[in-house]
Amino acid sequence: MSLQSKINPNKLPRHVAIIMDGNGRWAKQKGLLRTVGHENGSKAVREVVEACAEINIPNLTLYAFSTENWKRPKLEVELLMKLLINSLKKEISTLEENDIRLNAIGNLNALPKKAHNELIDVIEKTKSNTRMTLTLALSYGSREEITKTIKEISLKVKNNLISPSDIDESLINKHLYTRSLPDVDLLIRTSGEQRISNFLLWQIAYAELYFTDTLWPDYSKEHLFEAIINYQNRERRFGKTSEQLQN
Ligand code: IPE
Ligand code: IPE
Ligand code: MG
Repeated sequence: MSLQSKINPNKLPRHVAIIMDGNGRWAKQKGLLRTVGHENGSKAVREVVEACAEINIPNLTLYAFSTENWKRPKLEVELLMKLLINSLKKEISTLEENDIRLNAIGNLNALPKKAHNELIDVIEKTKSNTRMTLTLALSYGSREEITKTIKEISLKVKNNLISPSDIDESLINKHLYTRSLPDVDLLIRTSGEQRISNFLLWQIAYAELYFTDTLWPDYSKEHLFEAIINYQNRERRFGKTSEQLQN
C-alpha cells in the first residue's frame, strides 16, 4: 500500500506551512558549497508543491527568506535572490499545469527590483488558478507583520475610522499579510531544529507542529505524505475534552 493511499481525503489540512531548513548542512555534509545546498533545495520545493496539489491541499505556504536572513553574507543573499528569480521563471509552467495560484507574504518592497518584478509577474499570470494557493514568505518576519498591523489599526483609530472597541481578532486578521488565507493547520520544519524562527506567530496559534530531521534538499513527496498521515492521526481538541469531540 502506498503512503499516498493511506491519506484520508476527508481530513486534509486546509493550510500547510513549511519552514524549509537545512540546505547549508546538507551541502556541508557532502563537502559542497552552501549555494549547492540552496540549488538542491529548489528541487525539493517542486516535489512538495506537486505533492500538495496531487492530494488537493488548498493552501501551502513556504518560508523561503526571513527578515533575519538579510544578515547572511552578501554573496549568499545575492545567490538566494538569483535562485528565486530563476525558479519563478522556470516553475511558471508547473504552476500553470497544476492550476496553482502564486501568492507572496512579507516586506516584498525590500526585495531587489528584479526579483520583485518577476514575483509580481508570476502572481499576475497565475491569479485565475484555483486548485491551490502557493504562498511564498519572502523577507517575511512575523514581528514585522504584527508591528505593521498595529500601526495600520492605530492610524484608523486616530482618524476616527474605527473605535478601539472595533478591534477584534477578525479585524487583526484582515490587516495581516495572510488576510486571504485560513489559519495554519499543520506546520512542518525540516533539519531537526525545533523553533519557529519568527514565522506566522499569530497564524499558528492552534497549528499541529511536526518536526523532522530530514534536511530540506532531501525532502520528497513521501516525506510530505508521512507528515500528513501523522497529522491525520492527531486529535485536535481546540480546548475541548476528548469526550466532547466524540459526541
Ligand atoms: C534554509 O536552509 C534556507 C534559508 C534559510 C534561506 P539554511 O540555509 O538555513 O541551512 P542551514 O540551516 O544552514 O543548514
Ligand atoms: C528560517 O531558517 C528561515 C527560512 C527557512 C527561510 P533559518 O535557518 O534562517 O533559521 P534560524 O536562524 O536557524 O532559526
Ligand atoms: Mg537554517
